[in-house]
Amino acid sequence: MNVQVKGRSRSCRTVTFDAEANSVELIEQRLLPHCFEIFSAKTYKETARAITDMVVRGAGAIGATAAYGLAQGARAFKGRNLETFQKHVEVVYQMLKDARPTAVDPVNAMNGVRLAMSRGGDVEQQQALALEAAEAFAGEDVRHCQEIGQHGAGLIRDGMTVLTHCNAGWLAFVDIGSATAPMYAAQAQGKSFHVFCDETRPRSQGATLTAWELAQQGISHQIIPDNAAGHLMQRGKIDLVIVGSDRTLGRTGEVANKIGTYTKAVLAHQHGIPFYVAIPLSTIDWNLRSGMDIPIEHRDEGEVLGAWGVVDGPRAGRRKGERVYVRVANPTSGAVNPGFDVTPASLITGIITPAGIFKPRELWARRRELGGG
Ligand code: MRU
Repeated sequence: MNVQVKGRSRSCRTVTFDAEANSVELIEQRLLPHCFEIFSAKTYKETARAITDMVVRGAGAIGATAAYGLAQGARAFKGRNLETFQKHVEVVYQMLKDARPTAVDPVNAMNGVRLAMSRGGDVEQQQALALEAAEAFAGEDVRHCQEIGQHGAGLIRDGMTVLTHCNAGWLAFVDIGSATAPMYAAQAQGKSFHVFCDETRPRSQGATLTAWELAQQGISHQIIPDNAAGHLMQRGKIDLVIVGSDRTLGRTGEVANKIGTYTKAVLAHQHGIPFYVAIPLSTIDWNLRSGMDIPIEHRDEGEVLGAWGVVDGPRAGRRKGERVYVRVANPTSGAVNPGFDVTPASLITGIITPAGIFKPRELWARRRELGGG
């Protein structure tokens, strides 16, 4: 997508790879919307750390980052012994897999890279194939998001208000985004509509990232507190909900997504508002049989007990623009911080995929066309 950086428009992907430096290049999302910087992860360990610390986040984006990270780790290997190389690759794979557990995209992406590598006869060939496969995953992510936009744009009609949760925009993918793809496509078709971005505490991806993206793109929007959606739905102020997903079960149609998604789905159901989930094929898990088996990431309690922001002017020894953490909650209280929840298929109107829009329980019957073998 195009972003305005220091008054200049530049086209940018969330994740890229510098083959010469063997580094993974990431938009530093923790600093947005206040500062636009590129973070260079120079080793696979730094890449894994960037995923855990959420320099990069969002299912497709961490999928591409893990794929590049695996290629990066493979390319860093010195030597010709294939067995030692494969052991090294396994260590890299596990570290990147463990960096964040809920999204399935990193696993699907890295399995694709490993499969491609297995076609190489020696270390050098496998290293080259790894990077080729990682680039292919990133390219496919962009294509899938474009196709999601084409299928989903028809859901947005002139004058509508659309609610989205967290950030399933281009920052959560290599480009374009999943939940935002229908919005960008509808805008290109000349439709006029308004978006409510859930603030998405505790990390505020809606208030910081989605709002920034929509502002960059000139889409009419407002940020709402996470608790406001029910009230707005009750007053007829929301016509449609589109969210992303970190893992969608192909067998059951259940959707794991950012904490709070389930609540919004229940509310939408109560008010008869269509609730759609937009996903590229790499977000589908064809193995798990129940949403209750999806590993739910629990993050540090500090995210709930306080908030990050930037200093808006020089004060108390701080410089303007400095990123600071402030404690909000009672100092002696602890917190529970699950990052994701699971929405049952019965609450989902449709899943917008690159191959069309399906009922959640249709995914399994259509698994061949949806890449499920
Ligand atoms: O914790 P995050 O920011 O990595 O969570 C991911 C998300 O932004 C959302 O869950 C999103 O809707 C799905 S990712 C495309």
